Amino acid sequence: ALVSMRQLLDHAAENGYGIPAFNVNNLEQVQAIMEAAAETDSPVIMQASAGARKYAGEGFLKYLIQAAVETYPHIPVVMHQDHGQSPAVCKGAIDLGFSSVMMDGSLMEDGKTIADYEYNVDVTRQVVEMAHKLGVTVEGELGCLGSLETMMGDKEDGHGAEGTMTREQLLTDPEQAADFVRRTQLDALAIAIGTSHGAYKFTRKPTGDILSIQRVKEIHARLPNTHLVMHGSSSVPQELLAEIRQFGGDMKETYGVPVEEIQEAIKYGVRKVNIDTDIRLAMTGAIRRFMAENPSKFDPREYLKPAREAAKKICLARYEQFGTAGNA
Ligand code: G3H
Ligand code: 13P
Ligand code: ZN
Repeated sequence: ALVSMRQLLDHAAENGYGIPAFNVNNLEQVQAIMEAAAETDSPVIMQASAGARKYAGEGFLKYLIQAAVETYPHIPVVMHQDHGQSPAVCKGAIDLGFSSVMMDGSLMEDGKTIADYEYNVDVTRQVVEMAHKLGVTVEGELGCLGSLETMMGDKEDGHGAEGTMTREQLLTDPEQAADFVRRTQLDALAIAIGTSHGAYKFTRKPTGDILSIQRVKEIHARLPNTHLVMHGSSSVPQELLAEIRQFGGDMKETYGVPVEEIQEAIKYGVRKVNIDTDIRLAMTGAIRRFMAENPSKFDPREYLKPAREAAKKICLARYEQFGTAGNA
């Protein structure tokens, strides 16, 4: 059944586990996630970005997820809007039937310029007022996703250039987080701890200076009852990079967020862990391999099947690793 995200996150908090939130854009990704969830008895969060809605169209995304709910009636499913850029976008998603929305007021509506704190409080509070009346969950974001190696924010314009931000500007401040939660009354808080979106997060296996699990602990100590969210949490498995390279792809050396660091964060209030890139890498590796090994094949089902299997393998692993399995 379609459920509110709050319900799933509360259960995760009571029982000390985390839930991967997978980005979806097409049929095979939805199927992979649901097959993995069914096999491991896991609750599901599927999320659609603005890019996903543009790629697939809102109607297709809605009914793909609806099909998942009908096909697996015993699995709780959240349909979540990822990185809503304005209250209007969040309202559109709620009208469409999303059971959860993210109001990302850490950036202005252009998705690039860093917003000031009062703007973030204002738009997030507006969305909470609108959503809670309808039983819809709200995630907000405070801090700036970005790299502590380059001191550069994730998606900013001019003032996000390399070396122009300080560590304290990038990381979520625990005191400000407490004020933000009190003033907005949101359900889940996305925090900045040194992760960034995409495959190129770290130039080496991250240590505490560039991936601050310590900051998760500080925020959790200040806000023990707030559900925390980690964005940019793909682990970027080296074997997937190797597979892509082996079959003609060009991937530079890069490192993601190690699963054991995520597991540590789950001990300190992280309940939702956003993953998109790992599924992209898995599908691309499988398709590259298939194409290289089967140059005469041309039925899309034949290469989408191993791609779906590869995506499912990632989902199975994360459901087990985050303790989600057995909690549907
Ligand atoms: O927020 C980032 C997610 O990975 C979605 O990416 O905007 O390319 O769909 P996207
Ligand atoms: P990754 O790029 O690490 O998969 O992060 C996805 C994400 O945070 C979506 O909101
Ligand atoms: Zn994100």
